[in-house]
Amino acid sequence: MATAAIHGLEHETAEHAHLFPVFATSSFTFDSAQQGMNRFSGKEKGFTYSRFGNPTTQAAAKLIAHLETLGLQDESGKPLQAEALLTASGQAAMAVMMMANVSAGETILSNSSIYGGTHEFLKDLLPRFDVQCRFVNMNELDKVEDVLKEDASVKLLHLETPANPSMQCIDIEAICAVAKRYNKLVTIDNTFATPYLQQPFRYGVDYIFHSTTKFLNGHGNAIGGILIGRNIEMMKERVYQTYKLLGCNSNPFDAFLLMQGVKTLAARMDRHCSNAEQIANFLSDHPAVGKVNYNGLPTHPGYEISKKQMRHPGAVLSFELKDGFDHSVNFINRLRICVRAVSLGTTDTLVSHPASMSHAGMKKEQRLAAGIPDGLIRMSVGLEDITDLLKDLEQALQLGYEKNEH
Ligand SMILES: Cc1ncc(COP(=O)(O)O)c(C=O)c1O
Repeated sequence: MATAAIHGLEHETAEHAHLFPVFATSSFTFDSAQQGMNRFSGKEKGFTYSRFGNPTTQAAAKLIAHLETLGLQDESGKPLQAEALLTASGQAAMAVMMMANVSAGETILSNSSIYGGTHEFLKDLLPRFDVQCRFVNMNELDKVEDVLKEDASVKLLHLETPANPSMQCIDIEAICAVAKRYNKLVTIDNTFATPYLQQPFRYGVDYIFHSTTKFLNGHGNAIGGILIGRNIEMMKERVYQTYKLLGCNSNPFDAFLLMQGVKTLAARMDRHCSNAEQIANFLSDHPAVGKVNYNGLPTHPGYEISKKQMRHPGAVLSFELKDGFDHSVNFINRLRICVRAVSLGTTDTLVSHPASMSHAGMKKEQRLAAGIPDGLIRMSVGLEDITDLLKDLEQALQLGYEKNEH
């Protein structure tokens, strides 16, 4: 995977550019009127207009699709093929996938613990187009099966594993097995894991999407997303048409930044993960800290599932302090190295408060059902020296710890 991330983008330009160039152009010229007509009708391959496709965005999409399918085979034992579209954001990738696959009168079945923006899209926006969404805990397979038995309108099952910010892990293989028995599509948000830690196509998932804004880019310098589908015909037709008409394309500059970030994915993830593991152990032993959500802790419910389907439990964790909300605010304010910001997957450690930030659009009872209490703190562990990070956490926890002890 490390080699593929660096060398997967074989390309050649007339100028022998070492890096894939930024094709900053909105349109592409035709040698003749006939050539323009042929390109638009699909008789001839070639670019026309950057909303429809651009060499730089296409190269980035191919690179990530290559990593998501690396080493996998289709039903006939051939290397697995997938088609990908680079989008303006992770939300755009999710929205294109949903809107291309679901029609009025149909239902989406989603795990309850998912990113707040996806939850809002499913709960508040899609019902306006007569698409309903039902939420279940997808670790309760019999409940999932009960819904599929009783509700023929379910078109697809959506999950995010590990989930933002509860870190809930869902058994992808088990969900795919149930969904396929009822002939339903399965879609997965693989943002937290990246293909380096988890390849959901291995288990029969139909679509994978990412917010590339996070670990794939890795440097926090561009918002972006990618949608990857294994049904090539569907991707080339209905999904592509939806993407084109909604104008969800990315742009060549962001695609260039993304390609540079992907090259160091394996090296970064190894370091992110090792730091996160040490922080999770430190927090779970600290007297001021209550619950720690991290799949690498044997006490965490996702421990076994993450071991089965992930190379490593990842680099994001969340936790609560014993003294609750005020204490969490104090702790966040006292941090000196860790940065107070939303998003995740950047070189620096980011700390945020999901209830008031990434999941603020959810109603309190929905938020609690998704495993996000008022005082929950989310941490995306960066690449800093672990000694500095642990010292920063220790000093930020000290105030509350003393208060707690005396
Ligand atoms: C798991 C997950 N999926 C999707 C998104 C949406 O991504 P974007 O902000 O790139 O649209 C986010 C954003 O935080 C996320 O955490």
